[in-house]
Amino acid sequence: MRGFICTTSHPDGCAQNVKNQIEYVKSKGAIDGAKKVLVIGASTGFGLASRITSAFGSNASTIGVFFEKPPSEGKTASPGWYNSAAFEKEAHEAGLYAKSINGDAFSNEVKKQTLDLVKKDLGQVDLIIYSLASPVRMHPTTGVLHRSVLKPIGGVFTNKTVDFHSGKVSEISIQPCNDEDIVNTVAVMGGEDWSMWIEALKAENLLAPGATTVAYSYIGPSLTEAVYRKGTIGRAKDHLEATAFSITDSLADINGKAYVSVNKALVTQASSAIPVIPLYISLLYKIMKEEGIHEGCIEQIQRLYQDRLFSGAEVATDEKGRIRIDDLEMRPDVQEKVAQLWNEAVTENLSEISDLEGYRKDFYNLFGFDVEGVDYKAEADEMVNVSSIV
Ligand code: NAD
Ligand code: NA
Repeated sequence: MRGFICTTSHPDGCAQNVKNQIEYVKSKGAIDGAKKVLVIGASTGFGLASRITSAFGSNASTIGVFFEKPPSEGKTASPGWYNSAAFEKEAHEAGLYAKSINGDAFSNEVKKQTLDLVKKDLGQVDLIIYSLASPVRMHPTTGVLHRSVLKPIGGVFTNKTVDFHSGKVSEISIQPCNDEDIVNTVAVMGGEDWSMWIEALKAENLLAPGATTVAYSYIGPSLTEAVYRKGTIGRAKDHLEATAFSITDSLADINGKAYVSVNKALVTQASSAIPVIPLYISLLYKIMKEEGIHEGCIEQIQRLYQDRLFSGAEVATDEKGRIRIDDLEMRPDVQEKVAQLWNEAVTENLSEISDLEGYRKDFYNLFGFDVEGVDYKAEADEMVNVSSIV
């Protein structure tokens, strides 16, 4: 471990995580969904879960785009690389088309490469999942390198936080952002790149009639509002949500539609780096597990597909046009209990009143560690090779 980063990963553990997700999707039965799917941000978290749900729920052909580190002799790959290698292996064994492009999705080059692959192999796509989470974006036309920040707007934010490795609860103060921070965070995590992707696909006639595109957002509780939804990242999510409407307008002639789905708070590499959020998640996990309503990425996305996107009925949205699969997290009784635990939380009682253990397990799982059914004493081969990832 170096800070919040795990500097190594386990190929077999990552593969086991992927297999578990595939089994889960298969256990829930067939989904009458899209058949030609492009997933941007396909290697970890919600994007990987989306790719798995399309492939193993709807027998879809999938193209995945991501930015991961391949293995080199004596050095492991990033987990998303092993996840994708394992996914492709399982998909190919099941007779499903699956190819991936490893590179910067914000760049014109990777967009062109992807468009060419869609044209050559799939003709058109009928579902595009946009699930990027990145701290930086090199703007393809201006050449400016934008960096996103996680800061409050307008005032200092002070609240509890936890170092989830040590379990120590402390108070943290985060200084407010400046105007440039907002512009930069919106440039990285807002909707501009999403609309560029859709425009580029449409310009080359690569969107099937009635094509759907979905991007992921988060809202969360009032506890984290100052640093999340009303902070710099929240401005980016506002922009992303507004972009759904402009994309839908631009797809009128092909009867296409863009949605934002608001998802539940979960342990990912991105969310573990945000102050305050890990404490919230470890309390939320405790309550949701007690209530029997806990979900991970795969349960969330399987439900998004089966009950929302491809249920056969009109897609249910909130008053702002968003799909809500954070409905269980945001249940008033759940939020009330979390808020109460939040007030009580101190270092001494945290292991009892929170699910810090579950948080840590999920965190190690991201890197392929602490996964059931994996023999960690056995020699593992880091040099996984996959020809369908270019
Ligand atoms: P993640 O870090 O697990 O996944 C990010 C993906 O983006 C990976 O596939 C990565 O390779 C890819 N990526 C990053 N930079 C890239 C680049 N330049 N080019 C190509 N690919 C790149 O993150 P996640 O938590 O699954 O987040 C996905 C989306 O879901 C984000 O919009 C996030 O805000 C949203 N969301 C997350 C949570 C949560 O609690 N984690 C909750 C709700 C919504
Ligand atoms: Na993702």
